[in-house]
Amino acid sequence: MTALSLSTNDQVANNAHVQLLFNEPECCGMRIKDLSIFAKKKTILTVNELRFPKKGVVAIMGPSGSGKSTFLKALSELMDENLAHKGHIDITCFDANDECESICSHFAMVWQKPTVFPCSIYDNLKVPLRKRKVARKEWLDLMKKALSDVGLLGELNEDWAKQRAQRLSGGQQQRLSIAMGLLKDSNIFLFDEPTSALDPISTEIIEKIIKDLGRTKLVLLVTHSLGQARRVSDYSAMFHNHEDKGALCEFSASEDFFKSPASPQSREFIMMETGV
Ligand SMILES: Nc1ncnc2c1ncn2[C@@H]1O[C@H](COP(=O)(O)OP(=O)(O)OP(=O)(O)O)[C@@H](O)[C@H]1O
Ligand SMILES: [Mg+2]
Repeated sequence: MTALSLSTNDQVANNAHVQLLFNEPECCGMRIKDLSIFAKKKTILTVNELRFPKKGVVAIMGPSGSGKSTFLKALSELMDENLAHKGHIDITCFDANDECESICSHFAMVWQKPTVFPCSIYDNLKVPLRKRKVARKEWLDLMKKALSDVGLLGELNEDWAKQRAQRLSGGQQQRLSIAMGLLKDSNIFLFDEPTSALDPISTEIIEKIIKDLGRTKLVLLVTHSLGQARRVSDYSAMFHNHEDKGALCEFSASEDFFKSPASPQSREFIMMETGV
């Protein structure tokens, strides 16, 4: 299909600053090869090759329209009906024997706008437990543990189970979404600008949770905040707009990325965002 073809020069240019880390199978959580995402005939994003670790926080940055949200959707198979993708997405941090309904069930997703169900906190939290077929007598303890892990338990009244989830503040709803991801027992957390609508205090709490999650899980965090990426990420991926489509132009350890970004696009992006 013409929409998917890339010239050799494009491929070299796209991959020049993408470090292929996590060569060893025991470190690699996800491998992406020759990924193209397209809507009808138009290619939206290409990623030639990229590997993510089994655990750690990866900040995904880039200008508006460079395909960051589309990338997260493709990984989690949450494509909308106008989008399709081709290529390889090998997720290696799942247990191959683990029976699940879809790939989607291994991912926890937190979007820019909180996405809790219009029912009680208890009913929200029971969704992932029911899917995992956890015995009902264990539910309450597991729910309390997840709420405590995201710092919500102490903020709620004793009758939290009956409280309507949508009455929580935006930041609390985001944390409830994360608690649902914890109860799903997901290995991969996808965050798409989770704090862009939140106040600094809620942002700080969520950044701490993201950092903690990264100690044991793979966390992909789309963010427009370079400060946030610098504070929480272990690795950085930079997308850019190239010939009317998005492309990955850099992947490296965040320490290196922020000290001396390798690609001209990253340098320009950092300069524009920080004015330095
Ligand atoms: N369902 C769709 N059909 C057609 N085009 C789409 C669809 N979804 C996204 N796109 C296009 O794909 C491109 C990338 O969109 P995407 O939302 O992934 O960008 P983004 O990097 O997340 O931007 P932002 O930083 O503004 O959130 C845009 O040009 C968008 O219009
Ligand atoms: Mg987006």
